[in-house]
Amino acid sequence: MSGNEMKYVQEAFDGNWVVPLGPNVNGFEKDLEDFVNTKAPLNPPEGGTLPARWACGKVFPVSAEDASASLPPVGGQRGALRGEQRRAYQTANPLNYDLLKDNAKRMRQNSTEAELAMWTLLRNDNLGFNFRRQHVIGDYIADFICLEKGLVIEVDGDYHNAPEQQEWDGYRTEFLKSLGYTVLRFTNEQVLHNIEAVEAKIKDTLTHLAQGEDASANFPPEGGQRGAKKVVALSAGTAAVHLALIACGVGPGDEVICQSFTFCASCHPITYLGAKPVLVDSEAETWNMDPDLLETAIKDRIAKTGKAPKAIIPVALYGMPYKIDRIMEIADRYGIPVIEDAAEGLGSRYRGQVLGTFGRYGVLSFNGNKMITTSGGGALICPDAEAAKKVMFYATQARESYPYYQHEEIGYNYRMSNICAGIGRGQMTILDEHIAHHQMLASFYSEEFAKIDGIEFHGNPAPEYDSNFWLNTIVLDPSLRVVGEEDAYAEVVKGAVGGAAGVTHEAKSAHTDCEPNRNVEAMRMALDREGIESRPLWKPMHRQPVYADAAAYVNGVSESLFARGLCLPSGPYVSLDDARRIVDTIRKNIK
Ligand SMILES: Cc1ncc(COP(=O)(O)O)c(C=O)c1O
Repeated sequence: MSGNEMKYVQEAFDGNWVVPLGPNVNGFEKDLEDFVNTKAPLNPPEGGTLPARWACGKVFPVSAEDASASLPPVGGQRGALRGEQRRAYQTANPLNYDLLKDNAKRMRQNSTEAELAMWTLLRNDNLGFNFRRQHVIGDYIADFICLEKGLVIEVDGDYHNAPEQQEWDGYRTEFLKSLGYTVLRFTNEQVLHNIEAVEAKIKDTLTHLAQGEDASANFPPEGGQRGAKKVVALSAGTAAVHLALIACGVGPGDEVICQSFTFCASCHPITYLGAKPVLVDSEAETWNMDPDLLETAIKDRIAKTGKAPKAIIPVALYGMPYKIDRIMEIADRYGIPVIEDAAEGLGSRYRGQVLGTFGRYGVLSFNGNKMITTSGGGALICPDAEAAKKVMFYATQARESYPYYQHEEIGYNYRMSNICAGIGRGQMTILDEHIAHHQMLASFYSEEFAKIDGIEFHGNPAPEYDSNFWLNTIVLDPSLRVVGEEDAYAEVVKGAVGGAAGVTHEAKSAHTDCEPNRNVEAMRMALDREGIESRPLWKPMHRQPVYADAAAYVNGVSESLFARGLCLPSGPYVSLDDARRIVDTIRKNIK
């Protein structure tokens, strides 16, 4: 504790604010917003290369003179081309301009199935705005445009998957943005198999444009940096997952893709809503959702059910960022919102940007064991004020504004209490210290385990990854012999391992059909004998009996990690001396 917690808690008592909501809740949310919206130090500078996820990598000219070249200027910022430059660009080749118009006419006569489906949708009165087809802008033909709102909609055929085409698409999007247009791109698959999500996205964008906001979902606005996110403080991280799913429109019969290698709270709320989890295995570098398997799963679910999953939940397991560029690119391509489970990843960064701010929603947890605690609590990072308002509505029993209690939808009692938020405000003052401490322990463990054969420390796989190392984890080679292996699993465990809170059912046997290797259990017991708490890694959801019937796309990675891995003490009270003793104890127990 920082000592500031009591100040805020006392204020809450003095002001008789001991309910959900109140000044501490507002203050805590503001502190969290300030933190999660911090600028990314690794962002490309103006005129630098575009983020890799745009698959473009082109260097854009920065100076005014350069704008006369045939490339758009400065990372596509709005209004970056001034009037005369824009005109010069548009009229540089009048012959070309006429050809483009002819071409547009021909394309109108030879529409693809997806273009026709899009046109049917856009002509529908319920969108409330007029759209036109094939409109010439500069040397470019926009598939569909709402001139009133400056919204360009593109429907991309399969040839857009080619890297060269993606590079052009990135460049064109930048060019249109530089002229002040907002661009939405959809793939043929999205339009043909997920037209509801496409419609929702277009409506959402039109609403935000009406309010003058940027409506990017999983996609960052210009310069790769997202707009300011809003944060809603809640009673738990689990509640945040639940509300994010509701905000993404998940309901009975829907499917939601979830990382299999995680704590059950990433997954259970899908089931609360009568929806079905589709479990996706991990890759070996970050231990998080495997992008290739994700795409396989999406395609297979579309083939089997005729519709795309409603959301994707990747997890920052033990704080480690997942393969964000690839997962977001795939999610964007299929138009599926991402709910980032950053419950364990508060303060982790990817390319300098805070985890939980990449997807449409981001989940945080302030459970007692997390990077900071409110004694129990969580938060949902939302894309904008309107989404945050919607989440607050469902978090406070979904009440309509009448002088009496009128309910037209089901709501929940999920708001954070003003007392807990007071603790959170105090904790925010030491968040940076906590992160630094966890990372300091990580570098110590990493150096020490590099000297021990048969033990591997799980570190950042590349410079763009910046884990908070919420828990430091190791894997033990199966060939490593550990003292007391013969006694591993000899007894039925009573209570939860590591004294985890709550009531557990009594175990019927010492074994299940999927458990950590004997040497891992022996090492856990050896540490326990010395008063050092360690724990196995999360058991993958696809091996949990409760999810035996769930669709699963697996490659063996998470099961293998679960068999070999151990979490080590990592919190702010673990000193360097403690860490030395932990490493020594491990060394001592290797035969
Ligand atoms: C990956 C993950 N997701 C979600 C949660 C749920 O958070 P909470 O315990 O605050 O409900 C946790 C932690 O407890 C977690 O580790």
